[in-house]
Amino acid sequence: MTEPQPDYRRPPGPHQPVTLGIDAETLATLQALQQEYGDMVSMVQPNGRLAYFVNDAVEVRRILARRHSKYHKGPGFERVKMLLGNGLIVSDGDVWRRSRTMIQPAFSRQNVHRLMTVMVGCTDRRAASWAEAVGQGETINITEETSDFALELILISIFGDDYEERILTEGENPFAFLSRDSTRDLSVVLKVRHLRALLLSIITDRRAGRGSRHFDFLSMYLDATDKEGKKFSDAELLDELMTLIVAGFETSANTLNWVWYLIAKHPDVEANLIDEAQRILPNVSAVTAENLAAMQYTQQVLEEALRLYPPVWLYTRRAHAEDDLEHHDVPPGTDIYLSPFILHRTAHYWPEPERFDPDRFVADDTPKKDRPYFPFSLGPRRCLGEYFSFLEMKVHLGLLLPRFRLQLVDEAEPQLELAINLRSAEDILMQPSTR
Ligand code: HEM
Repeated sequence: MTEPQPDYRRPPGPHQPVTLGIDAETLATLQALQQEYGDMVSMVQPNGRLAYFVNDAVEVRRILARRHSKYHKGPGFERVKMLLGNGLIVSDGDVWRRSRTMIQPAFSRQNVHRLMTVMVGCTDRRAASWAEAVGQGETINITEETSDFALELILISIFGDDYEERILTEGENPFAFLSRDSTRDLSVVLKVRHLRALLLSIITDRRAGRGSRHFDFLSMYLDATDKEGKKFSDAELLDELMTLIVAGFETSANTLNWVWYLIAKHPDVEANLIDEAQRILPNVSAVTAENLAAMQYTQQVLEEALRLYPPVWLYTRRAHAEDDLEHHDVPPGTDIYLSPFILHRTAHYWPEPERFDPDRFVADDTPKKDRPYFPFSLGPRRCLGEYFSFLEMKVHLGLLLPRFRLQLVDEAEPQLELAINLRSAEDILMQPSTR
């Protein structure tokens, strides 16, 4: 007699099918499910596929870190594939492992430090245009400003001199649509095609020894080799460059957008930030790695902003092998939904979660293991640009805040736009003045 197969141990959840995506309705659905069923919820999607919503600190860590090899990227990534091909963010398994091993050395602290002068240059250009706006009595659109800052920074970090010589000579910045066009319609397809052709011509010239000899991500990617000594093909390089641009600018831009909004709402925080910046970064030549590391209060403000507004607000995974969590089984094929946005605002982990309080991140010796926090994800697929982004945001705030006071034109809290990235639904307008 054969033994009956044990039933999978599933978390509680609704009986009727649930539609999930990467949008505002999904956030509302997941929040309602959490209210009703708790931090682990199981459901069936209209296509019959099982899905778990996981909001438990221990299980999240298990899925993203210790058991990461049992999961691939999940639903929603098909849409980004049009832009990113098989680049690092969307690839899985051996393809991802090979690329990650080849690319990771480019993000060493030593390499990122060499890009600090680019960060200062991009910040200086913002300062010049803000000074002009003050002179004219104009408002600035901080959402566009932070987006332009982060886009210019990532493009110069990748292409060095080729940015000015090959990309800006195109007339309108051919990458600008990435921040302004959230649609994925035909015009975007054409723009992506044009971009890829431009990037390919830069790659071809670099391979032929023409063009920039400066230190930049493209030269590091061109030199990178795998275990067998093989380099990236042109097609692979194109995907990785598009990935780096997309991963590297919208996330930092959105964070800075929210930070300027939060600072304007919290004058006490603003005063502390200015005090720290004036002490540690009195002038441009004080921008060193040691000084940026010493900006502890600015670090806390950035971490607290990323708690409230994690740019990647929803992660999806799909189990490709069977897994067992502490109290539940995960059959192969199960979709997993994890949301830093929800976890970071769950009251039993974060008391008074809606309150902006940078002191939550004061550096002390208390272990923070029971406080789930993962704006950059966890485990082997954790963001590669985390250090780069903290440096760029500290340079930006540290040099601009002591010079400019930005006041909100409209005090109302902006609505959230919940797509692949969490943005403010409306652009935030501010009135600048000099201090
Ligand atoms: C505030 C800024 C940033 C945030 C919050 C952020 C967040 C993230 C998150 C959550 C992931 C993992 C997504 C997932 O597993 O589904 C990721 C991956 C990645 N990020 Fe970032 N990121 C930021 C800035 C940057 C910057 C500036 C760069 C590059 C210069 C960068 C490069 C990457 C890359 C290459 C990956 C793919 C890693 C892999 O799959 O192995 N990120 N980022």
